[in-house]
Amino acid sequence: MTEAAKHPPAGRPLRAIIVEDTPDDIALLLLALRRAGYATDHAHAQTAEELDAALRTGQWDVVLADYSLPDFSGLLALAQVGAYDPDMPFIIVSGNIGEDVAVAAMKAGAHDYLIKGNLTRLGAAVERELREAEMRRARRRDEEALRHARLRLQALSNRMLEMQEAERRHIARELHDEIGQSLTAIKLNLEALALRSADEAARRLADEIAGVAGEVLEQVRRLSLDLRPPQLDDLGLSAALHWLVKRHTREGGPAIVLEAPQELPRLGAQAETACFRVAQEALTNALRHAGATQVRIELKLEEDMFCLDVGDDGRGFDVAAARARALLGTSLGLVGMNERVALAGGEMGIASHAGSGTRLSVRLPLPVAELKAV
Ligand SMILES: Nc1ncnc2c1ncn2[C@@H]1O[C@H](COP(=O)(O)OP(=O)(O)OP(=O)(O)O)[C@@H](O)[C@H]1O
Ligand SMILES: [Mg+2]
Repeated sequence: MTEAAKHPPAGRPLRAIIVEDTPDDIALLLLALRRAGYATDHAHAQTAEELDAALRTGQWDVVLADYSLPDFSGLLALAQVGAYDPDMPFIIVSGNIGEDVAVAAMKAGAHDYLIKGNLTRLGAAVERELREAEMRRARRRDEEALRHARLRLQALSNRMLEMQEAERRHIARELHDEIGQSLTAIKLNLEALALRSADEAARRLADEIAGVAGEVLEQVRRLSLDLRPPQLDDLGLSAALHWLVKRHTREGGPAIVLEAPQELPRLGAQAETACFRVAQEALTNALRHAGATQVRIELKLEEDMFCLDVGDDGRGFDVAAARARALLGTSLGLVGMNERVALAGGEMGIASHAGSGTRLSVRLPLPVAELKAV
Protein backbone atom coordinates (compact mmCIF):
# COMPACT_ATOMS: atom_id res chain seq x y z
CA MET A 1 0.00 0.00 0.00
CA THR A 2 1.31 3.44 -0.86
CA GLU A 3 1.92 6.12 1.77
CA ALA A 4 -1.08 8.26 0.87
CA ALA A 5 -3.41 5.28 0.91
CA LYS A 6 -2.49 4.79 4.61
CA HIS A 7 -2.67 8.50 5.54
CA PRO A 8 -4.56 10.32 2.79
CA PRO A 9 -3.34 13.97 2.74
CA ALA A 10 -5.70 16.86 2.00
CA GLY A 11 -5.66 18.55 -1.41
CA ARG A 12 -6.25 17.70 -5.05
CA PRO A 13 -5.50 14.01 -5.50
CA LEU A 14 -2.46 13.21 -7.62
CA ARG A 15 -1.06 9.77 -8.40
CA ALA A 16 2.64 10.03 -9.24
CA ILE A 17 5.46 7.61 -9.92
CA ILE A 18 8.73 9.07 -8.67
CA VAL A 19 11.85 7.66 -10.34
CA GLU A 20 14.51 8.73 -7.86
CA ASP A 21 17.20 7.12 -5.70
CA THR A 22 17.59 9.75 -2.96
CA PRO A 23 14.96 9.70 -0.18
CA ASP A 24 15.55 13.40 0.61
CA ASP A 25 14.82 14.38 -2.97
CA ILE A 26 11.60 12.36 -2.90
CA ALA A 27 10.59 14.20 0.25
CA LEU A 28 11.36 17.57 -1.41
CA LEU A 29 9.25 16.66 -4.44
CA LEU A 30 6.31 15.62 -2.24
CA LEU A 31 6.65 18.83 -0.24
CA ALA A 32 6.65 20.98 -3.38
CA LEU A 33 3.56 19.14 -4.61
CA ARG A 34 1.82 19.58 -1.25
CA ARG A 35 2.58 23.32 -1.34
CA ALA A 36 1.07 23.44 -4.82
CA GLY A 37 -2.14 21.95 -3.40
CA TYR A 38 -1.71 18.32 -4.40
CA ALA A 39 -2.45 15.32 -2.18
CA THR A 40 0.06 12.95 -3.74
CA ASP A 41 -0.25 9.18 -3.67
CA HIS A 42 3.10 8.02 -4.96
CA ALA A 43 5.07 4.93 -5.92
CA HIS A 44 8.81 4.95 -5.93
CA ALA A 45 11.09 3.28 -8.52
CA GLN A 46 14.87 3.16 -8.93
CA THR A 47 15.13 0.45 -11.60
CA ALA A 48 13.36 -0.60 -14.79
CA GLU A 49 11.80 -3.55 -12.92
CA GLU A 50 10.42 -1.32 -10.16
CA LEU A 51 9.07 1.16 -12.72
CA ASP A 52 7.43 -1.70 -14.63
CA ALA A 53 5.81 -3.01 -11.44
CA ALA A 54 4.58 0.47 -10.52
CA LEU A 55 3.14 1.12 -13.98
CA ARG A 56 1.24 -2.16 -13.79
CA THR A 57 -0.22 -1.58 -10.33
CA GLY A 58 -2.49 1.30 -11.15
CA GLN A 59 -3.65 4.41 -12.84
CA TRP A 60 -1.04 7.17 -12.71
CA ASP A 61 -1.33 10.86 -13.46
CA VAL A 62 2.34 11.78 -13.86
CA VAL A 63 5.89 10.43 -13.75
CA LEU A 64 8.59 12.58 -12.14
CA ALA A 65 12.07 11.25 -12.90
CA ASP A 66 15.62 12.10 -11.99
CA TYR A 67 17.96 12.29 -15.00
CA SER A 68 20.69 9.99 -13.71
CA LEU A 69 20.37 7.18 -11.19
CA PRO A 70 22.93 4.53 -10.16
CA ASP A 71 21.13 1.63 -11.92
CA PHE A 72 18.77 3.45 -14.23
CA SER A 73 18.34 6.71 -16.16
CA GLY A 74 15.67 9.29 -16.85
CA LEU A 75 15.83 8.65 -20.60
CA LEU A 76 15.40 4.87 -20.16
CA ALA A 77 12.47 5.53 -17.84
CA LEU A 78 11.03 7.93 -20.43
CA ALA A 79 11.16 5.26 -23.17
CA GLN A 80 9.62 2.71 -20.80
CA VAL A 81 6.75 5.00 -19.79
CA GLY A 82 6.21 6.07 -23.43
CA ALA A 83 5.84 2.45 -24.51
CA TYR A 84 3.35 1.86 -21.70
CA ASP A 85 1.28 5.01 -22.24
CA PRO A 86 2.44 7.57 -24.81
CA ASP A 87 0.20 10.26 -23.30
CA MET A 88 1.49 9.97 -19.70
CA PRO A 89 3.02 13.29 -18.55
CA PHE A 90 6.73 12.82 -17.89
CA ILE A 91 8.71 15.51 -16.11
CA ILE A 92 12.45 15.30 -15.54
CA VAL A 93 13.58 16.70 -12.19
CA SER A 94 17.33 16.68 -12.07
CA GLY A 95 20.20 18.15 -10.11
CA ASN A 96 22.72 18.94 -12.79
CA ILE A 97 21.01 18.92 -16.14
CA GLY A 98 22.72 21.05 -18.77
CA GLU A 99 20.88 22.97 -21.48
CA ASP A 100 21.82 20.50 -24.26
CA VAL A 101 20.87 17.46 -22.14
CA ALA A 102 17.53 19.10 -21.31
CA VAL A 103 16.88 19.76 -25.00
CA ALA A 104 17.75 16.13 -25.85
CA ALA A 105 15.35 14.91 -23.13
CA MET A 106 12.53 17.10 -24.47
CA LYS A 107 13.25 15.83 -27.99
CA ALA A 108 13.04 12.27 -26.68
CA GLY A 109 9.52 13.06 -25.45
CA ALA A 110 9.87 14.46 -21.91
CA HIS A 111 7.20 17.06 -21.34
CA ASP A 112 9.14 19.37 -19.06
CA TYR A 113 12.31 19.51 -16.95
CA LEU A 114 13.03 21.19 -13.65
CA ILE A 115 16.08 21.73 -11.48
CA LYS A 116 15.97 20.10 -8.06
CA GLY A 117 17.16 23.31 -6.45
CA ASN A 118 14.16 25.24 -7.72
CA LEU A 119 10.89 23.35 -7.47
CA THR A 120 8.58 26.39 -7.24
CA ARG A 121 7.46 25.73 -10.84
CA LEU A 122 6.62 22.05 -10.14
CA GLY A 123 2.93 22.57 -9.24
CA ALA A 124 2.25 24.70 -12.33
CA ALA A 125 4.19 22.28 -14.56
CA VAL A 126 2.23 19.29 -13.26
CA GLU A 127 -1.06 21.12 -13.67
CA ARG A 128 -0.27 22.13 -17.25
CA GLU A 129 0.92 18.62 -18.16
CA LEU A 130 -2.21 17.00 -16.68
CA ARG A 131 -4.33 19.34 -18.80
CA GLU A 132 -2.30 18.66 -21.94
CA ALA A 133 -2.30 14.90 -21.36
CA GLU A 134 -6.08 15.00 -21.11
CA MET A 135 -6.20 16.91 -24.41
CA ARG A 136 -3.84 14.38 -26.04
CA ARG A 137 -5.98 11.51 -24.78
CA ALA A 138 -9.18 13.17 -26.00
CA ARG A 139 -7.56 13.75 -29.41
CA ARG A 140 -6.41 10.15 -29.55
CA ARG A 141 -9.93 8.95 -28.65
CA ASP A 142 -11.39 11.19 -31.39
CA GLU A 143 -8.85 9.92 -33.92
CA GLU A 144 -9.60 6.34 -32.98
CA ALA A 145 -13.35 6.95 -33.25
CA LEU A 146 -12.78 8.59 -36.65
CA ARG A 147 -10.65 5.66 -37.81
CA HIS A 148 -13.35 3.21 -36.77
CA ALA A 149 -16.06 5.27 -38.45
CA ARG A 150 -13.97 5.38 -41.63
CA LEU A 151 -13.45 1.61 -41.54
CA ARG A 152 -17.17 1.02 -40.98
CA LEU A 153 -18.04 3.34 -43.87
CA GLN A 154 -15.50 1.64 -46.11
CA ALA A 155 -16.91 -1.80 -45.29
CA LEU A 156 -20.43 -0.54 -45.93
CA SER A 157 -19.43 1.08 -49.20
CA ASN A 158 -17.61 -2.08 -50.30
CA ARG A 159 -20.59 -4.23 -49.46
CA MET A 160 -23.01 -1.93 -51.25
CA LEU A 161 -20.92 -1.91 -54.42
CA GLU A 162 -20.60 -5.70 -54.28
CA MET A 163 -24.35 -6.04 -53.82
CA GLN A 164 -25.04 -3.59 -56.63
CA GLU A 165 -22.81 -5.56 -59.03
CA ALA A 166 -24.31 -8.89 -57.93
CA GLU A 167 -27.80 -7.50 -58.44
CA ARG A 168 -26.89 -6.11 -61.87
CA ARG A 169 -25.35 -9.44 -62.85
CA HIS A 170 -28.46 -11.27 -61.68
CA ILE A 171 -30.93 -8.94 -63.46
CA ALA A 172 -28.78 -8.94 -66.62
CA ARG A 173 -28.79 -12.77 -66.72
CA GLU A 174 -32.50 -12.94 -65.91
CA LEU A 175 -33.27 -10.47 -68.69
CA HIS A 176 -31.07 -12.26 -71.17
CA ASP A 177 -31.85 -15.86 -70.32
CA GLU A 178 -35.45 -15.88 -69.11
CA ILE A 179 -37.17 -12.88 -70.63
CA GLY A 180 -34.99 -12.95 -73.74
CA GLN A 181 -35.75 -16.60 -74.42
CA SER A 182 -39.48 -16.17 -73.81
CA LEU A 183 -39.55 -13.21 -76.19
CA THR A 184 -37.63 -15.23 -78.78
CA ALA A 185 -40.19 -18.03 -78.47
CA ILE A 186 -43.09 -15.56 -78.83
CA LYS A 187 -41.46 -14.01 -81.90
CA LEU A 188 -40.74 -17.36 -83.59
CA ASN A 189 -44.24 -18.69 -82.88
CA LEU A 190 -45.84 -15.53 -84.22
CA GLU A 191 -43.75 -15.80 -87.37
CA ALA A 192 -44.79 -19.44 -87.76
CA LEU A 193 -48.41 -18.45 -87.17
CA ALA A 194 -48.17 -15.75 -89.83
CA LEU A 195 -46.80 -18.28 -92.34
CA ARG A 196 -49.53 -20.77 -91.65
CA SER A 197 -52.50 -18.46 -91.44
CA ALA A 198 -54.80 -18.34 -94.45
CA ASP A 199 -56.45 -15.17 -93.19
CA GLU A 200 -54.59 -12.15 -94.64
CA ALA A 201 -55.57 -9.77 -91.79
CA ALA A 202 -54.56 -12.29 -89.13
CA ARG A 203 -51.22 -12.86 -90.93
CA ARG A 204 -50.45 -9.14 -91.01
CA LEU A 205 -51.33 -8.79 -87.34
CA ALA A 206 -49.12 -11.76 -86.40
CA ASP A 207 -46.26 -10.27 -88.44
CA GLU A 208 -46.72 -6.90 -86.77
CA ILE A 209 -46.70 -8.41 -83.27
CA ALA A 210 -43.66 -10.53 -84.19
CA GLY A 211 -41.95 -7.28 -85.27
CA VAL A 212 -42.75 -5.60 -81.94
CA ALA A 213 -41.54 -8.69 -80.05
CA GLY A 214 -38.28 -8.49 -82.04
CA GLU A 215 -37.80 -4.83 -81.07
CA VAL A 216 -38.53 -5.54 -77.39
CA LEU A 217 -36.10 -8.47 -77.56
CA GLU A 218 -33.40 -6.16 -78.92
CA GLN A 219 -34.08 -3.60 -76.14
CA VAL A 220 -33.96 -6.31 -73.49
CA ARG A 221 -30.61 -7.57 -74.84
CA ARG A 222 -29.17 -4.04 -74.84
CA LEU A 223 -30.46 -3.40 -71.33
CA SER A 224 -28.97 -6.68 -70.17
CA LEU A 225 -25.57 -5.84 -71.66
CA ASP A 226 -25.66 -2.29 -70.30
CA LEU A 227 -26.32 -3.59 -66.80
CA ARG A 228 -23.30 -5.86 -66.87
CA PRO A 229 -21.68 -7.17 -70.04
CA PRO A 230 -20.98 -10.91 -69.66
CA GLN A 231 -17.52 -10.31 -71.20
CA LEU A 232 -16.47 -8.74 -67.92
CA ASP A 233 -16.96 -12.03 -66.06
CA ASP A 234 -16.16 -14.46 -68.87
CA LEU A 235 -13.40 -12.86 -70.96
CA GLY A 236 -11.94 -10.06 -68.86
CA LEU A 237 -11.54 -6.32 -68.87
CA SER A 238 -10.10 -5.87 -72.34
CA ALA A 239 -13.03 -7.65 -74.04
CA ALA A 240 -15.54 -5.76 -71.93
CA LEU A 241 -13.95 -2.43 -72.90
CA HIS A 242 -13.99 -3.37 -76.60
CA TRP A 243 -17.71 -4.01 -76.20
CA LEU A 244 -18.13 -0.66 -74.38
CA VAL A 245 -16.38 1.25 -77.16
CA LYS A 246 -18.47 -0.47 -79.85
CA ARG A 247 -21.64 0.21 -77.88
CA HIS A 248 -20.97 3.96 -77.74
CA THR A 249 -19.47 4.53 -81.19
CA ARG A 250 -21.93 6.38 -83.44
CA GLU A 251 -21.66 7.74 -86.93
CA GLY A 252 -20.95 11.44 -86.73
CA GLY A 253 -20.10 11.11 -83.02
CA PRO A 254 -16.65 11.47 -81.45
CA ALA A 255 -14.03 8.87 -82.38
CA ILE A 256 -13.50 6.44 -79.50
CA VAL A 257 -10.10 4.80 -79.51
CA LEU A 258 -9.13 1.89 -77.27
CA GLU A 259 -5.52 0.88 -76.79
CA ALA A 260 -5.12 -2.27 -74.76
CA PRO A 261 -2.48 -5.02 -74.82
CA GLN A 262 -3.51 -8.28 -76.47
CA GLU A 263 -2.64 -10.26 -73.39
CA LEU A 264 -3.85 -8.76 -70.16
CA PRO A 265 -3.58 -10.63 -66.86
CA ARG A 266 -6.82 -11.10 -64.89
CA LEU A 267 -6.78 -8.58 -62.08
CA GLY A 268 -9.47 -10.03 -59.86
CA ALA A 269 -13.17 -9.26 -59.90
CA GLN A 270 -13.04 -6.12 -57.75
CA ALA A 271 -10.25 -4.39 -59.68
CA GLU A 272 -11.64 -5.36 -63.10
CA THR A 273 -15.12 -4.20 -62.20
CA ALA A 274 -13.69 -0.96 -60.77
CA CYS A 275 -11.72 -0.31 -63.99
CA PHE A 276 -14.67 -1.13 -66.21
CA ARG A 277 -17.09 1.08 -64.27
CA VAL A 278 -14.57 3.94 -64.19
CA ALA A 279 -13.99 3.69 -67.95
CA GLN A 280 -17.75 3.50 -68.50
CA GLU A 281 -18.42 6.61 -66.37
CA ALA A 282 -15.47 8.55 -67.81
CA LEU A 283 -16.57 7.72 -71.35
CA THR A 284 -20.18 8.66 -70.59
CA ASN A 285 -18.99 11.94 -69.07
CA ALA A 286 -16.84 12.70 -72.11
CA LEU A 287 -19.77 12.01 -74.43
CA ARG A 288 -22.29 13.92 -72.30
CA HIS A 289 -20.32 16.92 -71.13
CA ALA A 290 -17.12 17.41 -73.11
CA GLY A 291 -18.22 18.07 -76.68
CA ALA A 292 -15.07 16.15 -77.65
CA THR A 293 -14.06 14.98 -81.12
CA GLN A 294 -11.96 12.15 -79.72
CA VAL A 295 -11.96 10.01 -76.59
CA ARG A 296 -9.00 7.75 -75.93
CA ILE A 297 -9.01 4.82 -73.51
CA GLU A 298 -5.63 3.28 -72.72
CA LEU A 299 -4.82 0.24 -70.64
CA LYS A 300 -1.25 -0.67 -69.83
CA LEU A 301 0.93 -2.53 -67.38
CA GLU A 302 3.76 -0.64 -65.73
CA GLU A 303 6.07 -2.57 -63.41
CA ASP A 304 3.83 -3.31 -60.42
CA MET A 305 0.94 -1.10 -61.59
CA PHE A 306 -2.02 -1.47 -63.80
CA CYS A 307 -2.90 1.79 -65.56
CA LEU A 308 -6.14 3.01 -67.06
CA ASP A 309 -6.23 6.42 -68.73
CA VAL A 310 -9.25 8.04 -70.31
CA GLY A 311 -8.61 11.30 -72.15
CA ASP A 312 -10.77 13.57 -74.27
CA ASP A 313 -10.09 16.71 -76.30
CA GLY A 314 -13.27 18.45 -75.19
CA ARG A 315 -14.05 21.60 -73.26
CA GLY A 316 -12.59 20.50 -69.93
CA PHE A 317 -13.94 21.52 -66.53
CA ASP A 318 -13.04 22.85 -63.10
CA VAL A 319 -12.42 19.60 -61.21
CA ALA A 320 -12.31 21.15 -57.71
CA ALA A 321 -15.61 22.97 -58.29
CA ALA A 322 -17.24 19.78 -59.66
CA ARG A 323 -16.02 17.81 -56.62
CA ALA A 324 -17.42 20.49 -54.29
CA ARG A 325 -20.78 20.37 -56.12
CA ALA A 326 -20.75 16.57 -55.86
CA LEU A 327 -20.71 16.90 -52.05
CA LEU A 328 -24.20 18.40 -52.34
CA GLY A 329 -25.30 15.05 -53.74
CA THR A 330 -26.39 16.28 -57.16
CA SER A 331 -24.03 14.01 -59.15
CA LEU A 332 -22.54 10.63 -58.42
CA GLY A 333 -20.09 9.96 -61.25
CA LEU A 334 -16.85 11.44 -59.89
CA VAL A 335 -17.58 10.33 -56.31
CA GLY A 336 -18.43 6.78 -57.42
CA MET A 337 -15.23 6.47 -59.52
CA ASN A 338 -13.07 7.64 -56.62
CA GLU A 339 -14.76 5.27 -54.20
CA ARG A 340 -14.40 2.22 -56.43
CA VAL A 341 -10.72 2.85 -57.12
CA ALA A 342 -9.94 3.52 -53.44
CA LEU A 343 -11.71 0.34 -52.35
CA ALA A 344 -9.70 -1.64 -54.92
CA GLY A 345 -6.53 -0.22 -53.32
CA GLY A 346 -5.69 2.16 -56.15
CA GLU A 347 -5.46 5.86 -56.86
CA MET A 348 -7.29 8.10 -59.26
CA GLY A 349 -6.46 11.56 -60.57
CA ILE A 350 -8.20 13.92 -62.96
CA ALA A 351 -6.37 16.63 -64.86
CA SER A 352 -8.64 19.11 -66.59
CA HIS A 353 -8.86 22.82 -67.32
CA ALA A 354 -11.47 24.80 -69.14
CA GLY A 355 -10.67 24.56 -72.85
CA SER A 356 -7.94 21.92 -72.62
CA GLY A 357 -9.69 18.56 -72.42
CA THR A 358 -9.77 16.07 -69.60
CA ARG A 359 -7.48 13.22 -68.61
CA LEU A 360 -8.44 10.72 -65.97
CA SER A 361 -5.79 8.31 -64.67
CA VAL A 362 -6.24 5.25 -62.52
CA ARG A 363 -3.37 3.31 -61.00
CA LEU A 364 -4.10 -0.05 -59.40
CA PRO A 365 -1.60 -2.42 -57.77
CA LEU A 366 -1.24 -5.70 -59.65
CA PRO A 367 -2.26 -8.85 -57.79
CA VAL A 368 0.80 -10.52 -56.23
CA ALA A 369 0.53 -13.56 -58.53
CA GLU A 370 0.74 -11.29 -61.59
CA LEU A 371 3.72 -9.32 -60.29
CA LYS A 372 5.96 -12.34 -60.84
CA ALA A 373 4.63 -12.83 -64.37
CA VAL A 374 5.22 -9.23 -65.55
N1 LIG B 1 -14.91 14.80 -69.48
C1 LIG B 1 -15.57 15.87 -69.03
N2 LIG B 1 -15.59 17.03 -69.75
C2 LIG B 1 -16.22 18.13 -69.29
N3 LIG B 1 -16.89 18.18 -68.12
C3 LIG B 1 -16.91 17.09 -67.36
C4 LIG B 1 -16.26 15.87 -67.76
N4 LIG B 1 -16.43 14.95 -66.79
C5 LIG B 1 -17.16 15.55 -65.83
N5 LIG B 1 -17.46 16.83 -66.16
C6 LIG B 1 -18.17 17.83 -65.34
O1 LIG B 1 -18.16 17.38 -64.00
C7 LIG B 1 -19.47 17.27 -63.51
C8 LIG B 1 -19.56 16.11 -62.54
O2 LIG B 1 -19.45 14.87 -63.20
P1 LIG B 1 -20.18 13.59 -62.59
O3 LIG B 1 -19.88 12.44 -63.47
O4 LIG B 1 -19.82 13.51 -61.15
O5 LIG B 1 -21.72 14.00 -62.65
P2 LIG B 1 -22.74 13.98 -63.86
O6 LIG B 1 -22.14 13.29 -65.05
O7 LIG B 1 -23.23 15.40 -64.06
O8 LIG B 1 -23.94 13.13 -63.25
P3 LIG B 1 -23.94 11.54 -62.96
O9 LIG B 1 -22.62 11.00 -63.36
O10 LIG B 1 -24.23 11.43 -61.51
O11 LIG B 1 -25.04 11.02 -63.82
C9 LIG B 1 -20.35 17.13 -64.72
O12 LIG B 1 -21.64 17.60 -64.49
C10 LIG B 1 -19.61 17.98 -65.73
O13 LIG B 1 -19.94 19.35 -65.57
MG1 LIG C 1 -21.23 11.39 -64.88
